Amino acid sequence: MQTLIGKNICEAKRFLEQGDVIAVPTETVYGLAANANIESAVRKIFEIKNRPFTNPVILHFHNQAQMTPYINEIPKTLKALADAFWPGPFTLLLEKTEIVSNKITAVNARVAVRIPSNPTFLELLKTLDYPLAAPSANPYGKISPTSAQHVFDYFDTKIPFILDGGRCHTGIESTIVGLEQDKVVIYRYGTISPEQIKNIIGYWPIVQNLSINKVPEASGMVLHHYAPDTPCYVFKAQDHTDWNPHYGYILFGKHAPTLEESENIVYLSNTQNENEAAARLYEIMHSFDQKKFAKIFIELLPDSGIGLAINDKILRASAKYKA
Ligand code: TXA
Ligand code: MG
Repeated sequence: MQTLIGKNICEAKRFLEQGDVIAVPTETVYGLAANANIESAVRKIFEIKNRPFTNPVILHFHNQAQMTPYINEIPKTLKALADAFWPGPFTLLLEKTEIVSNKITAVNARVAVRIPSNPTFLELLKTLDYPLAAPSANPYGKISPTSAQHVFDYFDTKIPFILDGGRCHTGIESTIVGLEQDKVVIYRYGTISPEQIKNIIGYWPIVQNLSINKVPEASGMVLHHYAPDTPCYVFKAQDHTDWNPHYGYILFGKHAPTLEESENIVYLSNTQNENEAAARLYEIMHSFDQKKFAKIFIELLPDSGIGLAINDKILRASAKYKA
């Protein structure tokens, strides 16, 4: 199968109507999408990604009205969050109705829903009368793609079409939130931070983000170690003296004495901006993999705001390579 990269919404739609899986751009990461109402198409996503059926997928919609047949009424607190953060890098776990297939939720009573903000993806969703089921467009266990080229490198010949919507500006996956005993819970850190959520609901949300040292509790919240192919280690740049040209170094920001950026030393953000750091993290991991360094060393961010989400990704990437 030839994999085409294009910007044509009608072409993307044609593939979806016939039950094919295509890649779609979102502001967070690219997704592997299928018509959520065709079970055989949804099944194909899992096969292409080599993802276990026990790991449920997110439904993507154009607006909240389009969600009505698929979910029970949104609780007031979550509605306030939805109104504040959609379209955007934010996913809600809501009680599903009967029409949502168990393939999508992995037999969970809740379904994950999201309205993305990438204009190309939104334009596509607007032309459809069904939601798109879409996990991130990476083979199971690999780093998520933030460009059409990343998707092509992973899935050339495996899917017919990649809808090119440019590079992903948010750069890491959406924040996942739900309600338990009337309290808001964060299940996955993202660029919508606990503080932003607190500003809407009036209290600090409970965090059940699956840390890399914890055993998964809720179904669907399986622990994954998304990682570059190159062995990856967390390090403290400030104490480091032995800069090896065969290793790649990813630093959050400038250090004193200032190290010049080079082929193997890269800053996530020259101005220590967390949003910029999130947007560049996966891109740099992908490029360091291609440069075939022997090892990658990454510096953690301060553990607050979006730093929580970025650190979570860094710890997962390095989890299987403990020194
Ligand atoms: O930013 C994003 O959320 C991207 C883009 C493509 O939208 N999608 C994404 O999907 O990251 P995925 O499948 O790679 O991660 C979704 C996470 C998984 O950990 C899954 O277990 C959890 O959401 N999840 C999905 N549906 C769920 C459900 N019904 N109950 C519990 N967890 C769920
Ligand atoms: Mg994923």
